[in-house]
Amino acid sequence: MSQSQIKLYYKNVTAEIIGNEHGVTDAQLKALAEKTTPLISQLNEERRTGKTPYRDLPHNTQIAQQVKQVVAELRDRCENLVVLGIGGSALGNIALQTALNPFMHNLDDTGRTGPRLFVFDNVDPPQLASFLDWVADRLDRTIFNVISKSGRTAETASQFMIVRRLLLDKLGPEGLQNQVVATTDPKQGTLRKIATDAGLRCLEVPQGVGGRFSVLSAVGLFSAAMCGIDIDSLLAGARHMDTRVICEDFYKNPAAITAAINYHFYNHGKRISVMMPYSYALKDLADWYRQLWAESLGKTKNLTGDEVHIGPTPVKALGTTDQHSQVQLYREGPNDKLFTFLQVNNFDKNIRIGPAPDCAPELEFLAGADLSKLLNGEKIATEYALLQSKRPCLTVLFDKVNAYTVGQFIYLYEVTTSLAGALFGINTYDQPAVELGKEATFALMGRPGYEKLAQQIQPLSEIDGDFLA
Ligand code: PA5
Repeated sequence: MSQSQIKLYYKNVTAEIIGNEHGVTDAQLKALAEKTTPLISQLNEERRTGKTPYRDLPHNTQIAQQVKQVVAELRDRCENLVVLGIGGSALGNIALQTALNPFMHNLDDTGRTGPRLFVFDNVDPPQLASFLDWVADRLDRTIFNVISKSGRTAETASQFMIVRRLLLDKLGPEGLQNQVVATTDPKQGTLRKIATDAGLRCLEVPQGVGGRFSVLSAVGLFSAAMCGIDIDSLLAGARHMDTRVICEDFYKNPAAITAAINYHFYNHGKRISVMMPYSYALKDLADWYRQLWAESLGKTKNLTGDEVHIGPTPVKALGTTDQHSQVQLYREGPNDKLFTFLQVNNFDKNIRIGPAPDCAPELEFLAGADLSKLLNGEKIATEYALLQSKRPCLTVLFDKVNAYTVGQFIYLYEVTTSLAGALFGINTYDQPAVELGKEATFALMGRPGYEKLAQQIQPLSEIDGDFLA
């Protein structure tokens, strides 16, 4: 396993490159360093006093052991692994799979190093019905990993209840026990109760770790390990990043620089933060980041209770696909975005472009080049074009995409989020706005105790014909 280190390149946000009006000046960077440095110490102290248990996940050998134990019990009889979860209970699983297993993983029966993986993070009837039709004859070779910290999330609970009925009907109570792994709170909650009652295999969402910070716990590690991903390297990468992001020297701490630059641009009219990997493997990490950033930093109030309505809007894009969809706006639309590119120097596989057809000599310039040269060339070209339009650009550089570098990236962005939250002076770890939507769903589905809320919602749920066009 390569021990390469991911790097942050931030020259292209500076005034030297894009001018004083849009870039960060030396004086501003110095002021950001002064503001951020005490917050690194503050976060280190919060961690020491147990306030941010996610920070210690990469060091927790017990979790990895428990995960490996369950994997050893199930892997030989598992052809399909199905994750039922949503938000922080699904996005990390998807991101790890896309990053670290081949694109054809689910289809390539001979090359696959574990079961097929399906993640259902929605309650879309045709989607789930189509899958259940396919899996109905394969249930004894399918493991369902239901992940919910609270156990009361309507989407996950409903999916589980559908699958539970299917398993009970087809395989009986023993089948339910054999085919389900529940990942949930170690002590409390609805799913814990169900799991205990039905005698299900369990893994834990560690206490004090919110969904969006949980990918390096059993939440993300189990599906990864089942599907052949090297979770030891993943955790080693995160531990390596830990040594860099605890550093109280601002200029040596990539999380501090990333958080400070994001904070600066938010306060200078660039309230949209676009993450744009130039690597298909990294595309779902941008989706994972989007949730981490949005739920953690989008808040009504700051820590002193003032109404601030703060939060950069994270946007995901994919190079080169979105060059042909978004870059027109990114260059000529409002200069209200900070761009973060993810760039890979060495791809696992490469392809050489074939010769140009005789009738198309104008394509000769592409002939014989590696596809990676084109992809990375397009990244540089897009960045150049954005810089010409005075748009600030960060790049996270990966020498290679592997479990070790992906572990670094995950930990880098988790700690960056904590530092950005500290800079904005908000509570990074709650999500009250999401909770209200969950409760409104309970009310609409007729859950006892939510009658008053249901009444409040009712006028909004009726279509007013005067406004139908
Ligand atoms: O980050 C979070 O806390 C949320 O996105 C949760 O992960 C999501 O709402 C699902 O919650 P639960 O795991 O309790 O079902």
